[in-house]
Amino acid sequence: MKKFLRILAYVLLILVVGIIGLISYVKLAFPKVDDAPDIRIELTPERISRGQYLANSVAACMDCHSTRDWGKFSGPLKDGSYGGGGEVFNQKMGFPGTYISKNLTPYALKNWTDGEIFRAITSGVNKDGKALFPVMPYHNYARADREDIYAIIAYLRTLESVESDVPPSRSDFPMNIIINVIPKNPSLSDKPDPSDKIKYGGYITNLASCIECHTPMEKGKPVLSRAFAGGREFGLPTGGFVHSANITPDKVTGIGNWTEEAFITRFKAYADSSFIPPEIHHGEFNTLMPWMMYSGMKEEDLAAIFAYLQSLQPIHHKVERFTSVSDYSPPPTPN
Ligand code: HEC
Ligand code: HEC
Repeated sequence: MKKFLRILAYVLLILVVGIIGLISYVKLAFPKVDDAPDIRIELTPERISRGQYLANSVAACMDCHSTRDWGKFSGPLKDGSYGGGGEVFNQKMGFPGTYISKNLTPYALKNWTDGEIFRAITSGVNKDGKALFPVMPYHNYARADREDIYAIIAYLRTLESVESDVPPSRSDFPMNIIINVIPKNPSLSDKPDPSDKIKYGGYITNLASCIECHTPMEKGKPVLSRAFAGGREFGLPTGGFVHSANITPDKVTGIGNWTEEAFITRFKAYADSSFIPPEIHHGEFNTLMPWMMYSGMKEEDLAAIFAYLQSLQPIHHKVERFTSVSDYSPPPTPN
């Protein structure tokens, strides 16, 4: 018996040492990304205007990097917060920690080199090489065209400073260790020619990160076999839960019966300056879908997204868009 206990103690000791060693290794050796590239991005008018378009209407950087008024439909940006960060993504919304979007205006980025900003957007580490949590879909940006990222950086340099200091983000255990292995070197691509509508549409869909919200999550991981089939759940600050729609071409539960025109019209409905986002009261339907931002997308880009989505495998998956607080029952596998 004594001998058994001694062996058990040794085994436990080895295990503990092993785990501590592994954790230290992950913390010291990761994130494994290259040094920030040595680049200087010239601020040409073409770049700034392309960057403004992408940062607002396609990649919607400004949506996350401003504070939002969740008392109104689709959470419009609060006055004076444009690019200043401070929007919180926390456990209530299904994240493994509290992540706060950063200030992207010159007030905060003036000491960052273009290369450091480029690396943050496409690899997911900050100026000091510390891992960022992929609330920001940097794995998608990693597949963008270099010139599109340059355009976004050029635009960021022209923003008006918002003088706000954002508190640090914090991951819960064990994400505070795992987060270090998430950043990766980018694998950039060339923007496809718009005449290849499906391929070009795939490029825009990736930059707009539709897949992020429109893929169901299980145990904190996206279920990629059901990509775009919807059902990802988001807790709303005003109570209740919204679930993303199935945007695969399934005719019954997805958008297989939609026409290109109906798709474009759905987005453009929010572009009209006469659209004033209605107030949302406690327990009423609201959405995380950044309708107002995407509504600025060019019709040809929306049409290309539609063509790409229609080229996907239809997945039958019925999603209930909204559950109010009172009839909510937790999903079988909570995140
Ligand atoms: C879905 C929300 C979301 C989108 C979209 C998004 N970001 Fe972020 N971003 C964040 C969050 C949250 C953080 C902080 C992550 C953390 O602290 O781990 C962040 C971090 C950053 C950082 C690091 C700044 C720092 O001080 O460490 C940069 C730079 C950045 N984002 C730029 C962009 C750009 C440019 C785009 C568009 C191409 C973009 N983001 C799109 C949410 C988003
Ligand atoms: C931040 C999360 C988020 C992102 C990013 C996002 N969506 Fe959504 N989307 C939702 C949610 C939640 C809903 C359901 C509520 C609603 O209708 O607004 C939705 C609804 C929709 C609908 C309405 C479907 C219907 O049956 O009425 C369409 C179409 C759609 N999204 C397409 C897209 C496309 C295309 C993109 C990328 C350009 C995208 N979404 C990006 C969260 C998101």
